[in-house]
Amino acid sequence: MDLFAHQDISKTQIPEAIEVINPATGEILAYVKKTNAQELEEKILKAYKAQKQWANILAEERSDRLMRFFVLMLEYKEALAEIMTKEQGKPLAESRGEILYAASFIKWFAQEARKVCGDIMESKVKDQKIMTLKQPIGVCAAITPWNFPSAMLTRKIAPALASGCAILVKSASKTPLSAYALELLAQKAGIPKDVFMIVNGDSNTISDVFCESEMIRKLSFTGSTEVGAQLYAKCAKTVKKLSMELGGNAPFIVFDDANLEEAVQGIMASKFRNSGQTCVCANRIYAQSGIYTRLCEILQKEMQTLKVGNGLEEGVNQGPLIHKSAVLKVKEHIEDALSKGARLLSGGKEHKLGGTYFEPTLICDVTPSMLVAKEETFGPLAPIFKFDTEEEAIAMANATEFGLAAYFFTQDYKRQWRVAESLEYGMVGINTGLISNEVAPFGGIKHSGLGREGSKYGIEEYMELKYLCLSVK
Ligand code: SIN
Repeated sequence: MDLFAHQDISKTQIPEAIEVINPATGEILAYVKKTNAQELEEKILKAYKAQKQWANILAEERSDRLMRFFVLMLEYKEALAEIMTKEQGKPLAESRGEILYAASFIKWFAQEARKVCGDIMESKVKDQKIMTLKQPIGVCAAITPWNFPSAMLTRKIAPALASGCAILVKSASKTPLSAYALELLAQKAGIPKDVFMIVNGDSNTISDVFCESEMIRKLSFTGSTEVGAQLYAKCAKTVKKLSMELGGNAPFIVFDDANLEEAVQGIMASKFRNSGQTCVCANRIYAQSGIYTRLCEILQKEMQTLKVGNGLEEGVNQGPLIHKSAVLKVKEHIEDALSKGARLLSGGKEHKLGGTYFEPTLICDVTPSMLVAKEETFGPLAPIFKFDTEEEAIAMANATEFGLAAYFFTQDYKRQWRVAESLEYGMVGINTGLISNEVAPFGGIKHSGLGREGSKYGIEEYMELKYLCLSVK
């Protein structure tokens, strides 16, 4: 099966198309057709009709088709990973990992499809039965990001399809090819084509149609807090259900009593996954004064093992950044920190390979007044702050409007519980830098969003709870 055989993708120039560019080489990989507002309205109407039939088939049948989709993703893992590395830039090993991660949501929600159930409550009055039903919310829309072109898509479509919803997805215009490939595989697995559709085009046009449509009852978005807040406001008129996975500014605290080698491995995994372009990346690393110097030394040594290059090349574990603007942001954070007294331990500039490659960078003596303490860098910059007490670390970690992920390393079991409870975050990694998987509820608090994806909670976001009151007099 040719995963590029989608009607919306062309290898040759089509008018007004989106160019998909390989960030490692600058080469144009494909042109993607833009969907205009009228075409989108037509697609929503098709989804509206198709959803009713999809919701009416047995949950077991929906589950079986999702399982076939999962198996196909494994079968096409290599081709999907190659497409991802070419359009997104992440190393092939990470792309393979993301395909497995993405497929895990399809499998998980295929299993969850059969577990949806309402309940019967003890009535307040005689001869009355109080019950609840869970029903699919209807037609949903999703807007997905470029940093995880497959996993962020399946984390949304799998619970939608499992619960009996239809879903239209606007994939990121920088990485649409992975999304179209998944749409083809879903159709091959027996998911009706009008029940899951990918669209692309002008972001404002598409999001306006999504937000204003009465037929769309739910919007799920992963992206920046700024855009999330705009979508939130735009959806107010049609009172849609929302899931928002927005920006982060993850603290990573290393206490004096931590296992330092493991803490450094945790930082490497959390900070440099996807070249630092994840919402859950360690953005601020806090080291307690007793281990501060040692931690900087071990981390600096470990960072020398990172090989920057084209993700298709053997041994490369840090690809290019997605765009020139990402490079500018990393540079801005470094320059600001150095101008305010931080010290550069390694990296610090664009990589000699050119393009959007950037050197893995380590700075120390970072303070709360620096930009990197307040904003998400979204790049390969590890800034180290020093702290003395547990209270101080918690206060610094919580001093942000974001609340997605936080991490800390300590071997003191009482401190593990105490700090975990005090951190104002939706997700906390304790002695680990990797927390994402299909079993766990992914999501944040404060300006990092609302709702949870994955896990047993994820399917609830795509269902309505209906209460039935039956008189049996
Ligand atoms: C994200 O960066 O938005 C998601 C990262 C993850 O799922 O681990």
